[in-house]
Amino acid sequence: MEFNELIQARHSVRDFQKQPVSESDLRTIISQAQMSPSWVNSQPWQVYVANGETATKIRTAYAKGAADGIKGHPDLPLTHRADWSATAQANMANFAAERDAMGIGETFVTSEAEVFQAPTLVFLTIAKPSNPWSLYDLGLFSQSLMLAAKNLGIDSIPAYNIVRYPDILREVMEIPADQVIVMGIALGYATDNPINTFQPQRQAVDEVLTIK
Ligand SMILES: Cc1cc2nc3c(=O)[nH]c(=O)nc-3n(C[C@H](O)[C@H](O)[C@H](O)COP(=O)(O)O)c2cc1C
Repeated sequence: MEFNELIQARHSVRDFQKQPVSESDLRTIISQAQMSPSWVNSQPWQVYVANGETATKIRTAYAKGAADGIKGHPDLPLTHRADWSATAQANMANFAAERDAMGIGETFVTSEAEVFQAPTLVFLTIAKPSNPWSLYDLGLFSQSLMLAAKNLGIDSIPAYNIVRYPDILREVMEIPADQVIVMGIALGYATDNPINTFQPQRQAVDEVLTIK
């Protein structure tokens, strides 16, 4: 896919078809993501993929957790909205307004609770001891991963919700205690659910850019 088309086409999909991503496509996606830059080429990431049955097992355990009222307790700390910058808070408010204007607010809640019905779940970890720069590296890795996926026609969403119960992930995926589970990315193929057409707007370039 041509780059401008690719960067515009990637957006978060919140309802997936049942078909998992093939192992050969997963290998291509992860090897392309490995081309991401990192501090002194430290490549701090490890990648765990739950595919097909394993993803179903995790989604089922998550649904039970939600039904039992267990709060999300990810490895990275959660911060209250009020503790974000004013700009970030305004952007998050716009996100909610755009979503609600489409009348898909409730579908959002259901899709998150069901882990987007995703057939393929990728978990990205960093070994302890970890440092803040490795989080930056992992962000670069994540975007490369999602663009590589889209280039193969595979949709994605990075989501806190995918890593909200790290104890379940450690058990099912056999992730060692010395790995910090940072982020989860769902992969697969979008359904025609209207929720998947949601693409929140970005700030104007002049609002984020200073050139002197
Ligand atoms: C760190 C991070 C956490 C996210 N967590 C969630 C989530 O829990 N639920 C969700 O629906 N989307 C989640 N998203 C997706 C964002 O809402 C989405 O990337 C953003 O609104 C921009 O939209 P786009 O990805 O469609 O371009 C998350 C994205 C990031 C980068």
